[in-house]
Amino acid sequence: MTLLLNGFELAKQCRAALSEKIKTLPRAPRLAVILAGSDPASAVYVRNKEKAAREVGIESAVYRFESITQKELLTLIDSLNKNTDTDGILVQLPLPEGLDEKEILQAIDPAKDVDGFHPLNLGKLMIEEPAPIACTPKGCLKLIHLARQNLTGLSAVVIGRSVIVGKPMAQLLLKENCTVTAAHSKTKDLPELCRKADIVVAAIGKPKMVKADWIKDGAIVIDVGINRLKDGKLCGDVDFEACFNKCDAITPVPKGVGPMTIAMLLENTVEAMERRLSL
Ligand code: GUN
Repeated sequence: MTLLLNGFELAKQCRAALSEKIKTLPRAPRLAVILAGSDPASAVYVRNKEKAAREVGIESAVYRFESITQKELLTLIDSLNKNTDTDGILVQLPLPEGLDEKEILQAIDPAKDVDGFHPLNLGKLMIEEPAPIACTPKGCLKLIHLARQNLTGLSAVVIGRSVIVGKPMAQLLLKENCTVTAAHSKTKDLPELCRKADIVVAAIGKPKMVKADWIKDGAIVIDVGINRLKDGKLCGDVDFEACFNKCDAITPVPKGVGPMTIAMLLENTVEAMERRLSL
């Protein structure tokens, strides 16, 4: 029987646990979210983050800008860094053209970097020092652990090498003692590589690209993709229906990785407050 890795349910459990924990804190954790530009998908993601934060007892302040300059954005981040009442800062990506994403992300105080995108935090992940971990890969790992606790010795293929997902995901799996291949658009014979993998994480952004004959019997398949088809339906980077019976465990789209990304943002916000206030 294939295990459906239900991110919707797991995220609900994570949020319930966080909600209980927040009740024991001296004050509500505070998250600042910056949304620049008019990308409709980003607007939806930010609304979902805001709602999820409110429901667990995190106070969120959303700064929305149709247009903003690099300097103005850096000034806002500087003031949020200095504000002792702000525990976490998130700048929704992608930023509009003309803004320098790297400079913006590096301007966030690493202690308030609830996305784990600051170079210092990415570096800490490399050397296995405690640090905020990017929300999507952190959520993916929790989903993988639903299927299997001990990943030692397993082979994993991560498809996609973004700083947001692919690179930290590969690092997390390495830390779990997997043998990891970081695959990408220039990788030769990707299907053959995947066929040898016990774990496949697809973060490509191409609808249903991972086919059933890419999957080894009994593999764990994690689908990070959220693609909108012409008929308006959502689908992942994995051909879910075709792959389902071959896997030991697989995430659906929607209700797989997506809800976990938000739950991990809430967890990172609580952890940032605890670290800052030495709780
Ligand atoms: N855009 C897509 N995913 C993410 C994420 O996890 N964090 C931020 N800040 N922007 C994103």
